Amino acid sequence: MSTKGGKYKGHKFHGDPQRFEVVADFVFDTFGRNIEYIADVAGGRGMLSRILNKKYNYKSTVFDPRGYTLVGVDSRTDEFKPEDASYYDLVIGLHPDEATRPVAESALATNTLVIPCCNFWDQTKKLGRDALIEEISKYYDENGIRYKKVELDFEGPKNIGLVSFHQK
Ligand SMILES: C[S@@+](CC[C@H](N)C(=O)[O-])C[C@H]1O[C@@H](n2cnc3c(N)ncnc32)[C@H](O)[C@@H]1O
Repeated sequence: MSTKGGKYKGHKFHGDPQRFEVVADFVFDTFGRNIEYIADVAGGRGMLSRILNKKYNYKSTVFDPRGYTLVGVDSRTDEFKPEDASYYDLVIGLHPDEATRPVAESALATNTLVIPCCNFWDQTKKLGRDALIEEISKYYDENGIRYKKVELDFEGPKNIGLVSFHQK
């Protein structure tokens, strides 16, 4: 499938449209019924939240200032603040652009999954995919966060993420 875009259940998306189902399945395989409330930060149209809610019965809310979420998906147009992270059992950033840092900082307070797409981490440096993952890993190491690097089964290169685990 082309990385330039594709269709998923009648909707058009940039990148590999399989990512929503793959990420939702990964969340369920990793956290199962131990979590309920999810913040889908920079969730765009909300396809990931829709699958998390319909297929797995989670309560996932999209945070995205663009406000163009699909009908029936719970959404907010405010920017996500790491201070609000502890309310959620999991904070996800799937290709979160400017929200990359708030998602990673949420790891101090709850479980997170960040799958960065571009360098919105440190704009003083040029960071490719692997260097970006390294920088976020360094932040986790410095803050004593338990995490692992994961390769998700959708078309790369933006299919590498970090999942972190928080003891509440
Ligand atoms: C590359 S799109 C990814 C959307 C979706 N997660 C996906 O995979 O299709 C990045 C999204 O980040 C949103 N965004 C940018 N800054 C944000 C912020 N501070 N808080 C929440 N969302 C933000 C944009 O509006 C945009 O919808």
